[in-house]
Amino acid sequence: MGEPALTRKTLLRDVRGTAELVGRSVAVMTVERLREAPARTKPENHLSRDVPLRRLEGKTALVTGGSAGIGRATAEALARQGARVVILSRNRERAELAQKEIQEATGNPHVELITADLSSRTSMATAVEELRGRYPRIDVLVNNGGGAWIDGDVTSDGVERTFATHHLGHFQLTLGLLDLLGKDGGGRVINIVSPLQRSGELDFDKLRSTEGYTMARAFSTAKFAQVLFTKELSRRVGGHGVSVNALDPGPVKTDGWKHTGSKFMPALEWASRAAFSFMYHSPEHVAADILTLAASPAADGLSGEYFTEGRRVPSTAKMEDAALAARLWEESERMLGALG
Ligand SMILES: NC(=O)c1ccc[n+]([C@@H]2O[C@H](COP(=O)([O-])OP(=O)(O)OC[C@H]3O[C@@H](n4cnc5c(N)ncnc54)[C@H](OP(=O)(O)O)[C@@H]3O)[C@@H](O)[C@H]2O)c1
Repeated sequence: MGEPALTRKTLLRDVRGTAELVGRSVAVMTVERLREAPARTKPENHLSRDVPLRRLEGKTALVTGGSAGIGRATAEALARQGARVVILSRNRERAELAQKEIQEATGNPHVELITADLSSRTSMATAVEELRGRYPRIDVLVNNGGGAWIDGDVTSDGVERTFATHHLGHFQLTLGLLDLLGKDGGGRVINIVSPLQRSGELDFDKLRSTEGYTMARAFSTAKFAQVLFTKELSRRVGGHGVSVNALDPGPVKTDGWKHTGSKFMPALEWASRAAFSFMYHSPEHVAADILTLAASPAADGLSGEYFTEGRRVPSTAKMEDAALAARLWEESERMLGALG
C-alpha cells in the first residue's frame, strides 16, 4: 500500500501538528535555559568527560532503539568500552546492519540482538523472558527507543501508542529485569527523555484513547511519564544497587522526526537544522554523555537526577511530584495487569 496522498486536510493536520511541536519546543527550551542557567555554569554539575571511564569488559548493556540514531551511537560507544551490548528494536534487518557495523567499527564481537516491540505488552513480556534466560545480569539499561506520530492511535492493547512505547514498554522492561540490574550492586538505568517533557500533562483518563490527541501533547506526556518513572524508581531502589537517571539530550541530528507520518515534518526539521544548527548535537555527542553516566566513577552514587545536555540541573516541583509518580506507577501496573 502506498503512502496516503497529501490532501488539504492532511496538509492542515501536518502544519498544525508540527507548529504545535515547534511552539512547545521553543517555549520550554527558552524557559528551561533561563531557569537552568545558574546550574549549567557550575563545573560540579557538568558530566565530566575528563575522569577516566571504567572499562566495561564482563558487563552487559541493553539499549532499546539501538538500531538507529542516539541508541545506535550509544550501542557503539558501549561496545567500544568493552561491554557486551544487546540491541532491542523491532526491525531485525536494520538491527542486523547496526550489529555488523558496530562489530566492525569497534572490534567487539559481543553485539547481540533482541527483536521486540516496546508498544506491545505481549512482545515485551516475551523479550523479558528471553533476556532473563540469556543473561544472568544486566549492568546498564538505556531506555531510549521510541518515536512520535502525527496521527493518534491506540495499540492492540488499547493504550495510546506514544505512551505505550516510551513509558509502558520501558516500565515493563525495567521492572522485569530489576533483580538482574541490582545483582552486583552497580546497575545503572538511563532513561532518555526530552525537553518537551516539561510541557507534559498526565491525564489518566485519556491514556487509553486518542481523545484530544496531538503529536506534541502525546509526546510531551509520554516523556514526562518517563521522568516521573525515573524519580519514583530511584526513590524505590536508588541506593540499593541500582541507580536511575534521566537524560534529556536536547535537539539531536537523527532521522527520528522522519518517521512521524507527517509529510511536512522532514522539511521543517531540515529547515530547523539549517537555521539553528548550533543548537543540535550529534548522536555521538549524546552517546558520550550516556556512556559517562554508565561508566564514569564520577557518576557513582548519582540517582534520581536529571541531566540536560551533559549538565545536572535541578528538577522542578512538577518533576518531583511524588504523589503523581506513585499514581503513575499504580496505573502502569494496572494497565499491564489488566492487559494480561
Ligand atoms: N532526536 C532528537 O532530537 C531527540 C530529542 C530529544 C529526545 N529524543 C529521544 O531520544 C530517543 C531516540 O531518538 P532518535 O532521535 O535516536 O530516534 P530514531 O533515530 O528514530 O531511533 C529510534 C529507535 O527506536 C526504535 N523504536 C521505535 N519504536 C520502537 C518500538 N515500538 N519498539 C522497539 N523499538 C522501537 C527504532 O527501531 P525500530 O524502528 O527498528 O524498532 C530505533 O532504533 C527517543 O526516545 C526520542 O524521543 C530525541
